[in-house]
Amino acid sequence: MLMVDRIGTLVILGAGGDLAKRLLLPGLGQLLRSSRGYDLRLIGVGFDAMTDAEWRDRVVESFAAGEVVSSRSTAVATTSVYLQADVTDPADLTRILAATTGTPALYFALPPQVTIASIAALEKVGLPAGAVLGLEKPFGTDLRSARALNRQLARLLPEKHIHRVDHFLGKSTVLNLLGLRFANRIFEQVWSAEHIERVDIVFDETLGLEARAGYYDTAGALVDMIQSHLLLVMALAAMEPPSSLDEDDLRGSMAQVLRATHAWKSDPVAAGRRARYTAGTIDGRKLPAYVNEAGVHQELDTETLAEVTVGIENWRWAGVPFRLRSGKAIAERRQQIIVTFKDVPHRPYGFTGNPGPARLTISLTPDSIGLDLNINGEGDPFTLDRVTLGTEFAAGELGPYGEVLHGILSDDATLSVRADAVEECWRIVAPILSTWRAGTVPIDSYRAGSAGPTAWR
Ligand code: BG6
Repeated sequence: MLMVDRIGTLVILGAGGDLAKRLLLPGLGQLLRSSRGYDLRLIGVGFDAMTDAEWRDRVVESFAAGEVVSSRSTAVATTSVYLQADVTDPADLTRILAATTGTPALYFALPPQVTIASIAALEKVGLPAGAVLGLEKPFGTDLRSARALNRQLARLLPEKHIHRVDHFLGKSTVLNLLGLRFANRIFEQVWSAEHIERVDIVFDETLGLEARAGYYDTAGALVDMIQSHLLLVMALAAMEPPSSLDEDDLRGSMAQVLRATHAWKSDPVAAGRRARYTAGTIDGRKLPAYVNEAGVHQELDTETLAEVTVGIENWRWAGVPFRLRSGKAIAERRQQIIVTFKDVPHRPYGFTGNPGPARLTISLTPDSIGLDLNINGEGDPFTLDRVTLGTEFAAGELGPYGEVLHGILSDDATLSVRADAVEECWRIVAPILSTWRAGTVPIDSYRAGSAGPTAWR
């Protein structure tokens, strides 16, 4: 079914950048081909010169990267235009808005400092009624700037038209947390400190810096992944059941659990550890040491592996550690939510073997779920053995950026991060970040292509 479109023009600010090329445009191509349908104009805006023809080639190429060429995506690509502009200049922003037709959606695929300056300029220009904004992470550069940016945005347009993007909330397995928890009776009954020992949310990648020093070197793994993504995944995993999946109920439940979250035992030094990769090889690829990558400033002391333990101080979760970890250039791509249950209060005498407590693993890559249970083993029935009940999920119709763009273009904020939630994520990491920036927590090292620092194992 072709939906009635609300947005007439999608404007990508930062159109010449890597994010637009690798993620946004392929996601848009996928969306245009999907059953959700869309009919819109696309405008690319960038600081550097590019002809319309060069831009269209880029759009066509990126659409094809998502294997998604369709008559609708071809029409959008061939009518698309490129504007060279300084998005922090009110006159240029006026020119950009004048080039749109229908209700515009402006997507800020820009570094946080540029987005902040551009929103300030936009305040002088104003926005047409109904306009929506999409803002890439990280949202601000710390708690203070995130608060200031939220205040600026609130003066410019209603919260429901502001889409702070976390593409992890568009990952189908992350969304499956909702189905798993709230559409089955069996899990929710044991989803608490009474039955759960610990929760680990791990997102280790084999990728290294990938020429992103300009952004990553001032962010580091804690901000790039834990503040921006994993805390929100944790919120979905730990929140109270919402009464509906609409934007107020769902986002209200997420914000509530984030408000209760703090560095483990309120000790920001002990709650986190950090490390950085040295030269190594992954899958036959040679990686230089992080500090020798082009554009890296050694004095910033940026971590490429961060691990933080937080506690959720409420009735359901008091005493349960949630460990969030993400690293680059790690040997194995492990991207999972692991829920470890408490051991049984009493194992009948007579059993031998103890494979450990039951464990539920929700895996983001590949999308799958596995429940490790103890059963009577083969052979001697009184020897306990481990078995995994598991399944892989079929891919969703849209990838994460297709989902994110769908939310923005249909102006449905359910999967967009609300102002208070983004501030809570900064508030949670702030004390840890400041101990790291002050050098109180030493930075460990690990070889690219290893499992992380030896001392951490
Ligand atoms: C991005 C981070 O937001 O998420 C990257 O900036 C990271 O550093 C990426 O590699 C991981 O997400 P995905 O969906 O590409 O695996």
